[in-house]
Amino acid sequence: MSRIAIIGTGYVGLTTGACMAHLGHQVICADVDTKKVEQLQGGVVPILEYRLDELVAEGLANGRLTFTSDSSLAVSDAEVVFLCVPTPQGDDGSADLSYVQAAATTIAAALPHECIVVNKSTVPVGSTKVVERAIRRSDVRVVSNPEFLREGSAVDDFLHPDRVVVGCDDPVAARAVGALYDAVRPQLIITDPASAELIKYAANALLATKLSFVNAIATICEQVGADIDDVVVGVGYDTRIGPGFLRPGPGWGGSCFPKDTRALARIAEDAGYDFGLLRSVIEANLQQFDHITSKIRTAAGGSLSGVTVAIWGLTFKARTDDLRDSPALEVAHRLLREGAIVQAFDPTVPEHRTGVPETIRLADGAVRATSGATVLAVLTEWDEFKWIDPTEVAAAMPGRHVVDGRNILDRAQWQRNGFHVASTGRSS
Ligand SMILES: NC(=O)c1ccc[n+]([C@@H]2O[C@H](COP(=O)([O-])OP(=O)(O)OC[C@H]3O[C@@H](n4cnc5c(N)ncnc54)[C@H](O)[C@@H]3O)[C@@H](O)[C@H]2O)c1
Repeated sequence: MSRIAIIGTGYVGLTTGACMAHLGHQVICADVDTKKVEQLQGGVVPILEYRLDELVAEGLANGRLTFTSDSSLAVSDAEVVFLCVPTPQGDDGSADLSYVQAAATTIAAALPHECIVVNKSTVPVGSTKVVERAIRRSDVRVVSNPEFLREGSAVDDFLHPDRVVVGCDDPVAARAVGALYDAVRPQLIITDPASAELIKYAANALLATKLSFVNAIATICEQVGADIDDVVVGVGYDTRIGPGFLRPGPGWGGSCFPKDTRALARIAEDAGYDFGLLRSVIEANLQQFDHITSKIRTAAGGSLSGVTVAIWGLTFKARTDDLRDSPALEVAHRLLREGAIVQAFDPTVPEHRTGVPETIRLADGAVRATSGATVLAVLTEWDEFKWIDPTEVAAAMPGRHVVDGRNILDRAQWQRNGFHVASTGRSS
């Protein structure tokens, strides 16, 4: 059992803290957001993440998990401190390290002798040194331990990781961080800090590449009469490729891929390498937002001006409440710019939710979002959309056009009810 402090209790920090407590460690989590800390102290988990509330309740009940808004207090008795603060995209595309630096500076004086500080935030190559400089303590080791969890299955990913990567030039500190995960029996990769930092960016960039690639193939399918669902099955059975991340959609987004791909392009540029491949992957994704928008425009008869479009799904993927850099919002913005009236429903987005522009009308039900609409666009793959009765939608919306950006609807059933369905990657 180790004494662990977590700085930043967002998707990564709270998952790390709750899971580490579940594994038997003594954990204290700190956040500058006092409202969030109060909620967590009362057992209220402010984000949607499967089983996270269960683990937080468990940790609070057995006393292994506590919360504070005082970061210095949190680290004062810690053997290992995890930095889990944001690293948003800076103005020049690079990762903004100001949160990491601020957090490191705040805790520096309060760190116990020979404490280990772990960078779990996604940070560019060289950030271990940046944290070392912010801490200015020769007795403190800084270790890179990038996080690979997926929102929506973060707890499961933490407790059953594909691998745990630890980067440090000091083998004792690296082994100490790796040992925190012993109970989950990970494939442990111990390497130098630069390699650990680059592994995270390379993994996200490769996943984004797969998605941009499959979306491009889907567009070709639409033109040549092929069916993307069959194509990806045929491609994915190749063991050199694998079936993961081959589902077409309205583009990729979320809190990581957009900023991490841009940050890696910037890292490459700074290193003197023109990463044209990655820039094309990013560009193809922007084209995909435009492509889905153009399909909605076509379904509307060629112009979106004054047309009511219903959108099902606003989060960047299903099973999360995260709206950051959501493809659905990207498409919604494009529709609004062309004069459409956008009515949206998402099961995790209540009316008046922050993060959704006021220009998007939020409905309190999927069928209600289609009221008066000419076109329905499905942009997030929530399971519950699959089971909606098209006859109810037909009664609510005057139009008969559906753009299924995620290929989740039963096309034949919707067609039987008089709808024209434009799928993704199929010539309908
Ligand atoms: N969300 C993901 O799926 C995911 C996956 C892997 C890696 N990451 C990386 O992990 C990092 C955190 O991401 P996230 O999604 O958890 O972010 P988040 O925005 O959900 O949470 C960050 C938290 O840090 C807090 N914070 C900011 N400054 C602080 C400070 N000085 N002291 C204490 N708390 C502070 C914020 O109040 C917030 O609660 C980022 O670098 C991200 O790229 C995210």
